[in-house]
Amino acid sequence: MTKWPKALFVLPWAAVACAVPMASRPEPAPDGPPNVEQNQRINVTKLYDDTCAKCHGNAAQGGGGGTRSLITEAAFEQANDKPFFDAIKNGVPDMGMEAFGGTLSDEAIWSLVVHIRELQARGLREKNGSPKAANGVYSSKYHRYRIETVVDTDQGLVTPWAVDWLPDGRMLVTNRGGTLNLVVNGKVGPAIKGVPAVAEIGQGGLMEVSVHPNYAKNGWVYLAYTEPGTANPRAGFTKIVRGKLRAAGEETTWSDQQTIFEVSQDNYSGSGIHFGSRIVFDGKGHVFFSIGERGSGERAQDLTRPNGKIYRLNEDGTIPADNPFASAADKEKGHLGAIWSYGHRNPQGLVFDLNGDLWDTEHAPRGGDEVNRIEKGANYGWPIVSFGINYNDSPYSTPWPKAGQNFRMPAYRWLPSIGACGLDLAKGPAFAKWKGDLLAGGLSGANVERVRMKNGQMVEHEELVHGMGRVRDVATAPDGTVYVVLNDPHKIVRLVPAD
Ligand code: HEC
Repeated sequence: MTKWPKALFVLPWAAVACAVPMASRPEPAPDGPPNVEQNQRINVTKLYDDTCAKCHGNAAQGGGGGTRSLITEAAFEQANDKPFFDAIKNGVPDMGMEAFGGTLSDEAIWSLVVHIRELQARGLREKNGSPKAANGVYSSKYHRYRIETVVDTDQGLVTPWAVDWLPDGRMLVTNRGGTLNLVVNGKVGPAIKGVPAVAEIGQGGLMEVSVHPNYAKNGWVYLAYTEPGTANPRAGFTKIVRGKLRAAGEETTWSDQQTIFEVSQDNYSGSGIHFGSRIVFDGKGHVFFSIGERGSGERAQDLTRPNGKIYRLNEDGTIPADNPFASAADKEKGHLGAIWSYGHRNPQGLVFDLNGDLWDTEHAPRGGDEVNRIEKGANYGWPIVSFGINYNDSPYSTPWPKAGQNFRMPAYRWLPSIGACGLDLAKGPAFAKWKGDLLAGGLSGANVERVRMKNGQMVEHEELVHGMGRVRDVATAPDGTVYVVLNDPHKIVRLVPAD
């Protein structure tokens, strides 16, 4: 490898700083928090192209002076996040790379790592393509599988959001616009009458459906939806209800509805983003659900506000006495007793694993969607720390908590983002060798990934599906086959074992 003489790398920093004129400085992202210091509103792509590309190549392909390509699976791994950051900050003196820590803020340095990750992802996709089928059979590390259509586009689903199963094998599916249907043998039945009216504002609408694990005994089905505000029907907030399905001939009606969770009207907002909305049961009498921060990042840190939280309630909606913020002192401070954990941005995946640990997946800003192990009372750091950067190509923060900040780090992050949405566990009997692994969907990533955790850390991941559509939900059926709810096209497919 060529060793570059140091003198070559005395960079014209003044020129770089001036390269982005004041007038063209990008505005902060609309959903970015106003309170995070961003001392350098630089354009990350330009910074990289001006400063790094001469050695690393503007697609991270390397080449300059013998600099190696970063387009390799090994270089792309999460384990390199901190080493990459350190390499940029401290330089790689024996290899001729200058230290940039003296001239760039930590936030700017982290944004360069995000940019490199995006270049790597693009390069690896070009090199490796998507998971491929030979004679209809996909091969993965432990299993061969086929992907078959369950509900085709001709069945009229519109932005299907979630599925779950009744004990008799019928599947329930929500459509974001506000309809709930039963599906039998790929045929979508008539809309169930009497489901609550929803506000389909932006990403909001009818979202999650979750069948109680003891449905056979109690008949409860839980829903999460955006309830229209009383004063302004174009404002809304996530509400959780449960109800029963009453069948009369061909017709099914939603009845006996009970409110499990709702918030005061002053929280209802016209913001069309970050509704969260997954519902899971711990099998010990509690229901957990997630609500996003609705574009008000700072409220994710505020225990008196419902935004950006994961909640735990008794299955009837009452607050368990052992919740982390349910003491008399909390009540005095106005803390919401239903909160289980906070500092979340948009948790759109939630599942219990076989050990009883709770996991979420959540949408970060550009770069760095997260998989978190959710612990009682813990703070997950949004909007103060994030793996992401602003959508406008300017730095946001560094991902690691600073001294005095007690934030939980994700066990795994998708860098770049996949638009994490939908999460379930491989449970068998189909795909027995995946048993216990997380199966996570991505909207913008249009993919499904299998992620294996051990002792709270990611130890293995692989992509199972890519490029069939935006993945809204991933759900393991009782037989262990893996259902994937797609948007654009609006259909449902499933992974079945090929042998
Ligand atoms: C003068 C050439 C040069 C410039 C300019 C340069 N680098 Fe490097 N960089 C290297 C070399 C050489 C290495 C050592 C590894 C290799 O050969 O790729 C390296 C290593 C790295 C690594 C660690 C890679 C690994 O595999 O561990 C990162 C990350 C990195 N550079 C990012 C940057 C960024 C971001 C910039 C711009 C701010 C930059 N570099 C500017 C030459 C350069």
